Amino acid sequence: MSNKVMIVSGGASGLGLAAAEKFARNGYNITLIDVNEQKGKQAEEKIKGMGVDAVFCLCDISNKEQVQRAAQITKDRFGRADVLINNAGLEVRGSILQCAEDDWVRLYDINLKGIYYMSNAFVPGMVAQKKGAVVNTGSILGYRTVPERAAYSSSKGAIDTLTRTMAFDLAPHNVRVNCVVPGAIDTPLLRGSINDSPNPAETEKVLGSKSVFGRMGTPEEVANVMYFLASDEASFVTGAAYFVDGGWSIM
Ligand SMILES: NC(=O)c1ccc[n+]([C@@H]2O[C@H](COP(=O)([O-])OP(=O)(O)OC[C@H]3O[C@@H](n4cnc5c(N)ncnc54)[C@H](O)[C@@H]3O)[C@@H](O)[C@H]2O)c1
Repeated sequence: MSNKVMIVSGGASGLGLAAAEKFARNGYNITLIDVNEQKGKQAEEKIKGMGVDAVFCLCDISNKEQVQRAAQITKDRFGRADVLINNAGLEVRGSILQCAEDDWVRLYDINLKGIYYMSNAFVPGMVAQKKGAVVNTGSILGYRTVPERAAYSSSKGAIDTLTRTMAFDLAPHNVRVNCVVPGAIDTPLLRGSINDSPNPAETEKVLGSKSVFGRMGTPEEVANVMYFLASDEASFVTGAAYFVDGGWSIM
């Protein structure tokens, strides 16, 4: 059993939970960070049931004090940080003319400042031990445009750029930084917007058609790539954007 530690934001659901399970299966102890207390505690129990240790921190990644508290809890519990998965994100609909200022600011606070707070809290430990890996979660909508996602798409495009600058700056410390770029993935988030749409069956069909395989991806298919990028198998990979989009980007 390794004593390695993985920290994941948005770890209570969807891609973050799948990542926690993948790393736990490979012997990592896990810090789960999320604003959903009920699902977070359930996730903590699930991961503990897999034979590793886990701690859930009720934490909004856009709140500096809460992030610092989560880092302290991780330090007290595990004493180290090896992999950081910056995964929590907010999606707001609307064109630049429709998006309310509060929504714009809140989205950028979570999707980008959240990565800033989380990285400042957890990466110094990796720098001190001269080894670490960060994986950020971007989105195909940072590269392909759909209507009325001005804030979301622009924030996800910025995550790609941020990933590359982090990779450059942290390379001398042997900390690699990459991002995954998911297409349409069947998580509670996407399932919610499918069910809320006027014609859920049609919406699901359209989302499936955004892949050359004619289906949505699974959270596990993204988690597998996150795990690869964080592992020593990817020791010469940094600053990369890995598309896990079923081919959306080549269509
Ligand atoms: N599902 C997709 O098709 C898809 C596609 C591209 C990108 N993404 C990205 O993947 C990431 C995960 O999305 P998902 O589909 O797994 O959604 P999800 O809703 O299933 O999980 C997201 C989790 O993040 C948590 N969260 C939200 N805001 C938070 C905050 N401020 N602090 C801490 N936790 C917070 C939520 O409570 C939730 O548990 C997001 O960044 C999303 O933009 C998803």
